[in-house]
Parts: sequence; structure tokens; C-alpha cells
Amino acid sequence: MNYDELMQPVLAFLGCKTPQAWLDEAVNNLPLLMQDHANCEKKAAGTAMNLMFRYSFFNDLQVKLAQLVREEMLHYEQVLEFMNKRGQEWQALSAGRYAGGLRKEVRTYEPEALIDILIIGAFVEARSCERFYALAPLVDEELGRYYRYLLKSESRHYEDYLALALDVAKSNQLKDPEEDIQNRIDHIREVEQQLIESPDPVFRFHSGVPKLKQAKAS
Ligand SMILES: [Fe+2]
Ligand SMILES: [Fe+2]
Repeated sequence: MNYDELMQPVLAFLGCKTPQAWLDEAVNNLPLLMQDHANCEKKAAGTAMNLMFRYSFFNDLQVKLAQLVREEMLHYEQVLEFMNKRGQEWQALSAGRYAGGLRKEVRTYEPEALIDILIIGAFVEARSCERFYALAPLVDEELGRYYRYLLKSESRHYEDYLALALDVAKSNQLKDPEEDIQNRIDHIREVEQQLIESPDPVFRFHSGVPKLKQAKAS
């Protein structure tokens, strides 16, 4: 498979690449990264499942998200298997700031709220994809192979979320669906970029630039 070609639209969609400092931190914190990755897969399925219950009248969403939920749960199982195989115990991890920081941007009225949630879904999937792609050559071969395997489904998830956002805008006859969507994409892209490029005290799969741990003043 040509991964560069597959990644092209994903990289063009995002406002920035993952900073090198995050990648350096990641390769030195693989167990934590793997635990947070497991959590992300489960949360991705949970978010999609919530949307399926809230918008049950929307057939295209049901079909696309049913597949997405299945795939995220499979990934969840696979990451748990990796942890198990590597003798890694489950550890409780708090959530980072990323998802909450994006969710703050969701407008409070429909259908705009749904459109925003779908666009945010597209950014989260695209960022995951970009990080797996950047990490693959930096980790051990087995894990690198697995990260590359994930690119195909995660890049499709990004496309599906984006297509659904446009569908909702069109079927609700917003004044200018493409323009409305584009404005929101541009806005959320900036917020996402800020979360990725600004210093972040908590290292997670979607965190920003790792802050140097400062020695405690005595
Ligand atoms: Fe996934
Ligand atoms: Fe996904």
C-alpha cells in the first residue's frame, strides 16, 4: 500500500504536523502511550455510539458509524492484546485537554451542534492518523506495522465524519452548506493546531508540546 498517497489528504486537512518534541517524548513513554491509545479507541467507539442514539433518524450516520464503532472496538481489543503480550498492566489515566478543548467549540443549537461534533470527529481521526504515521518508523517493528495497519481505517473515519458533516448541512438546507462547513473547518483547524503546538503539562496520545518537567523548588 502507498501510505504517502493515503496520508496526503489527511496531512492537507490538518493545520500542522506533530512537533518533534512530542514524538521524542512518545518513544520514551511507549507504555503510557499504549494505555492512552487503548482509552482513545474505546472513547472513539463511545462517542460514535452516543451519536447513533441521539440522531437515530439519520440513516447515513447510522450506517457509517455502526462500521466505525465495530472498527474502534476491534482496535481496542488489539491494543489490549499488545499490552497483554508485553506484560503491561492496565493503568488508570486521566484524560488530557485535547478532546475537551475541541468540544468547547461545539455550538449549542441544531443542526450546527451536530455539524461541529462531526467536524471535530474528522480532526480527531485525522490527527490520530498523522501521529500513527509519524510514529511508525520510530517504534519497534511489530508496533510500527500495527500503526501502519491502522492508517487505512482511521483515514476512512476522517473522510466519513467529514462527509456526514456536509450531508447534515445540505439536508438542513443551511444557506450555503459548503461555505458554512468550510468556515467551521477553518475555525476548528486553528483550535486543534493550538492544542497540538502549545505547551501541555500532561503527556497523552493527543497532547501538545511536552513541557519540561521542572525540578520542584524546595
Ligand atoms: Fe481506531
Ligand atoms: Fe478511528
